[in-house]
Amino acid sequence: MLGTCLIGSSIIQRDVVTSTMDEARHLLESGGGEGTVVVAEKQIAGRGRFNRQWVTHEGQDLALSIILYPQTTQLPQINMAATLAVSNTVDKIGDLHSEIKWPNDVQVNGKKVAGILVESVGRKGNHNDMILGIGINVNADTSSNPELSSTSTSLAIENNRHNDRTEVLVSLIQNLDQLYQDVSDGLLLNDIWARKISTLGQNVKINTGDRIIEGLAKKVNVYGNLVVELQNGIETTVASGDVTLKLDK
Ligand code: BTN
Repeated sequence: MLGTCLIGSSIIQRDVVTSTMDEARHLLESGGGEGTVVVAEKQIAGRGRFNRQWVTHEGQDLALSIILYPQTTQLPQINMAATLAVSNTVDKIGDLHSEIKWPNDVQVNGKKVAGILVESVGRKGNHNDMILGIGINVNADTSSNPELSSTSTSLAIENNRHNDRTEVLVSLIQNLDQLYQDVSDGLLLNDIWARKISTLGQNVKINTGDRIIEGLAKKVNVYGNLVVELQNGIETTVASGDVTLKLDK
């Protein structure tokens, strides 16, 4: 029993899809209710941020998307709720210590264990239709693939055991359900989110897609944006981007 209020009210399992994002979008367009979760065993065209490819190892990892209708004012909190829910699940089920690499990667020992993708589908009054996609590397062993293993990891690689994917999924849905309720009740997750962000206090280089920003990551603001102190001492705010740590100060 899930025992959740909203997330997981309906769980749809598919064997093969292009992407659970597409599947959830079709469901939303045909009236799928808020909280509907689509889980797939295999994605032919799994996608990540910046339209990158996302690989889900069949039978080993987790790929899911969730239909949400948050209030427009609460949109910045959704990414915080999702990254926190994933991070708490990795810690609890995997007995690990995960951190969040701003804005939406979950890492263990500096390597990516999960990614989150938020796609907005449209706006209805003061609500937004959105699809939240989550990919977690659960049991995949990517250690023989140098390209993948230098930046990504899995629960199994980190805790040296097989992890029950159903347990991971149930815990994730329960964590997200609680945090989503908190957000709907008006709670701001910024402070607990900031405590899990490994990027803060580091010298960073951020590729936003149209510019490169270098400086010291100081804090996150109420919108979840990163506040960076540039070399000239001026602070700038970044809404989204690809962060790398700068080791040379
Ligand atoms: C990222 O780190 O760039 C985000 C990765 C998001 C991957 C998940 S897997 C489930 C859902 N379906 C997709 O095609 N993408 C998301």
